Amino acid sequence: MKRTLIIMFFVLIAAAVAFAQTGVKKKRPLPYDYGKVVINNYSEKAGLAPVVFNHWLHRAKFTCRLCHVDVGFAMKAGTTGIKASDNISGYYCGSCHNGKPDAEGNKVFESCSKTVPPDEKNRCQRCHSLGKNVKPAYDFGAFTERFPKGRFGNGIDWEKTEAEGLVKPVDFLEGVSIKRQAITAQKDFALSPKLEGMPDIIFSHKKHTVWNGCELCHPEIFVGVKKGSTKYSMIEIFDGKYCGVCHTSVAFPLTDCQRCHTKSVQ
Ligand code: HEC
Ligand code: HEC
Ligand code: HEC
Ligand code: HEC
Ligand code: HEC
Ligand code: HEC
Repeated sequence: MKRTLIIMFFVLIAAAVAFAQTGVKKKRPLPYDYGKVVINNYSEKAGLAPVVFNHWLHRAKFTCRLCHVDVGFAMKAGTTGIKASDNISGYYCGSCHNGKPDAEGNKVFESCSKTVPPDEKNRCQRCHSLGKNVKPAYDFGAFTERFPKGRFGNGIDWEKTEAEGLVKPVDFLEGVSIKRQAITAQKDFALSPKLEGMPDIIFSHKKHTVWNGCELCHPEIFVGVKKGSTKYSMIEIFDGKYCGVCHTSVAFPLTDCQRCHTKSVQ
């Protein structure tokens, strides 16, 4: 009984956080839109449509670590400050979108140019696409059709999708990444929610390392020298800190309480 009340309390906090951020009740994003980032620091001012970036497509092809450590994108929408000149010089989007063949010989369409080449207006619009009726090359439904389903977020169980080999995210980019020693993952462990009757959270280093390496979490999100050295509460997680850095906008969202609070209690 007591536990049910406490859980109710946290569900209310979750709703309140969503409300406070937008001032209106947040609609749950459609599976296709979960992880979508709109980037518009400079585009509209330059007379172009804002840029739309989709995580579902990119994360199926590359690890989080590759983009957020090696390429160097920030983990908060709009804060990297990507400029057309960066992309043209082969940084940020331009580290892949450069029109050159990669290791497998696939060419990824080029990003920005100084001017709009008359025959290539469509190329600009593939990224500068907000509000334009652009038909993407990849259709979400067709692309994810065979992936194991999840309840929230993209509606996909990405963990299983990767484990079954349906996606094989690349973790190395020629000319950008540095060759590193393979790292052995730390032991999985249980986190106790410091609340009587709340089920423990099983945290899997092994499963997280597939996507995130070590550097995405340590030392910025978790100091990680010793288990328990970082103190955090569910309220801070709802606020987008700690586990909430990823589990609010790209990895499965916090509404999926049971995926973290798994260990059953009597
Ligand atoms: C192909 C590159 C790429 C990959 C792969 C990628 N990201 Fe991102 N991510 C981005 C970009 C670009 C942004 C937006 C940065 C900006 O606007 O300055 C972003 C933003 C984010 C944000 C902030 C979102 C928001 O709404 O504020 C989070 C969280 C995030 N990524 C987590 C992840 C996780 C977790 C993974 C792996 C499952 C991942 N990313 C994979 C490029 C990538
Ligand atoms: C690590 C490499 C990498 C980075 C970095 C990257 N992309 Fe991509 N992106 C890809 C690949 C590979 C594809 C698939 C291209 C293809 O098959 O033609 C793609 C496809 C796309 C598409 C086309 C989707 C469709 O269905 O038509 C868009 C739009 C896009 N990326 C936007 C961006 C933007 C914006 C950025 C920077 C904020 C970015 N990408 C950064 C590798 C990358
Ligand atoms: C692979 C994705 C991608 C493609 C394709 C692309 N851009 Fe961009 N572009 C970006 C991103 C990301 C930004 C930063 C968006 C922002 O903050 O407003 C940007 C910003 C810009 C800006 C803003 C001014 C500045 O100095 O940064 C201009 C101008 C621009 N792009 C021109 C172009 C032109 C012209 C084309 C087509 C020839 C093009 N871009 C194609 C991703 C792309
Ligand atoms: C998704 C985030 C994440 C990733 C990725 C990650 N860790 Fe951790 N790590 C944690 C958390 C959470 C803790 C516990 C910290 C706490 O409770 O203070 C932790 C704790 C640790 C500890 C202390 C363990 C103990 O028993 O006291 C070490 C050492 C560590 N991590 C090393 C690594 C290494 C090496 C990698 C890459 C192979 C890695 N971590 C990847 C989140 C992560
Ligand atoms: C750097 C980003 C990041 C952080 C921080 C992070 N995660 Fe994750 N986590 C992921 C990604 C990516 C997945 C793969 C599944 C997905 O994307 O939905 C995942 C998967 C999981 C899974 C499912 C794995 C399984 O066992 O099937 C659990 C449970 C989980 N995370 C719990 C946590 C907890 C608890 C924390 C905080 C202590 C945390 N995560 C912090 C990115 C992150
Ligand atoms: C991404 C993983 C994750 C998800 C999803 C998640 N939690 Fe938690 N939760 C945690 C972690 C980690 C802690 C433990 C923090 C600590 O005490 O070290 C925690 C702690 C708690 C606590 C104990 C009080 C506190 O602040 O520490 C409550 C109650 C709780 N969660 C409720 C919920 C409810 C309700 C949901 C669903 C709406 C939920 N959690 C979803 C990871 C998660």
